[in-house]
Amino acid sequence: MSTTVRAAAKINLHLGVGAPREDGFHPLDTVYQAISLYDDVTVSTASSTPSSTASSTPNSTVSSTVAEDSLSVSGSSYVDVAGVPTDATNIALRALDEARCGGAHLVEIAKQIPVAGGMAGGSADAAAALLAHDRLHDLRQPDDVLLAQAARLGSDVPFSLVGGTARGRGRGEVVEPIVDHGTWWWVVVPAAVGLSTPEVYRHFDRLHPDAPAQPAEPTELLAALARGEPVRLARALHNDLQEAAVDLRPELGDLIDRGEAGGALRGMVSGSGPTCVFLCDSQEGSAEVLAALSASYDVVLSAVGPVAGAHVVDMHQVGTGLR
Ligand code: C5P
Repeated sequence: MSTTVRAAAKINLHLGVGAPREDGFHPLDTVYQAISLYDDVTVSTASSTPSSTASSTPNSTVSSTVAEDSLSVSGSSYVDVAGVPTDATNIALRALDEARCGGAHLVEIAKQIPVAGGMAGGSADAAAALLAHDRLHDLRQPDDVLLAQAARLGSDVPFSLVGGTARGRGRGEVVEPIVDHGTWWWVVVPAAVGLSTPEVYRHFDRLHPDAPAQPAEPTELLAALARGEPVRLARALHNDLQEAAVDLRPELGDLIDRGEAGGALRGMVSGSGPTCVFLCDSQEGSAEVLAALSASYDVVLSAVGPVAGAHVVDMHQVGTGLR
C-alpha cells in the first residue's frame, strides 16, 4: 500500500517577531498563506514496491536507508536536493517516528518547494508524511492529535497541515484560520543558496537587542485580507526578519527593488529568506512581473494563494493494479 500527500509552500504576509523566550524560540504573531508550490510525499509500507519512480521529476535523486525506513528525494530543476538530509535527521522520517504505529516505510519526496528558502519546505514534508502515515494505516486520528504531533516537529508544521490563510502565534505553532476573501497572485524568486533559519533569527537578535516581548500585531493586514484588496494588502505586508535576511544577503535588496520596478505592488523576503515573493495586482500583472524579473534571474516562478493544506492526492494498492 502507498499513499501520496501534497503539501504547499508557505509565505508570511505578516511576521511579527518578539524578543527570544527562555526556551530560545521567538514569540511570533504571523499570518501564513499557503501558495501553489508543492512537495509530494509518498509513503509506502516497506514490503510493497514504491508506487512511483523519482525519475518523474527532472532533478537528480538521492537515497538512503535509515534503520528500517528508506528515503529518496527528487526535485524540480531549481531545487537543490543535495541540501536535503537523507539520514534519520530528515524531518519526514522524524515525522514517521513521531507517528509510528509499527513497521518500516519507504518515503519518496518530490520537491517543488525551494530548500532552506524560507517557504517551509521541510515543514511541508513533515506534514505530508504525518498525514500519509495516518491514511496509509487508516488511523483517522483527530485533527488535534495530528496538530500536536506536527507542533512537536517544528513551528511551521501545524500550518502546513491546515493551509489556506491562518494566523500563527506562540512560536508559530498555534494556528487559527482567518478570513481571506482574496485570490492573490505572487511571483516567487528562489535563491541558488539557502539561508539558515536559526542564523537569521540570531542576526535579528543582534540587530534588535531591545525587541519587545510582544510581537507586532497584523491588524491592518487582517482588514485587507477580509476585503480582498491587493493595494491595501501590499501596504500592510510586514516581515520583521527581512532586515536581518537582507543584511546577510544584500543582493536581496536589489531583487526586491527590481520586482517593484517591474510592476509588483510590493516585494518582500519570504519568512527567514532568501526566497523573495512579489504581490501582483492580477494574474496578468504577475505575468508581467515574471517577464521583467526573468531578464535578470534564472529561476522566476508564479504562484497563487491561498491553497489547501496537506491533502491526499493518490493511494495505491501496490502490485494488484488497484488504484
Ligand atoms: O521550529 P523550527 O524547528 O522550525 O525552528 C527552527 C529554528 O528557527 C529554531 O531552532 C530557532 O532557532 C528558530 N526559531 C525561533 N523562533 C521561532 C521559530 C523558529 O527562534 N518562533
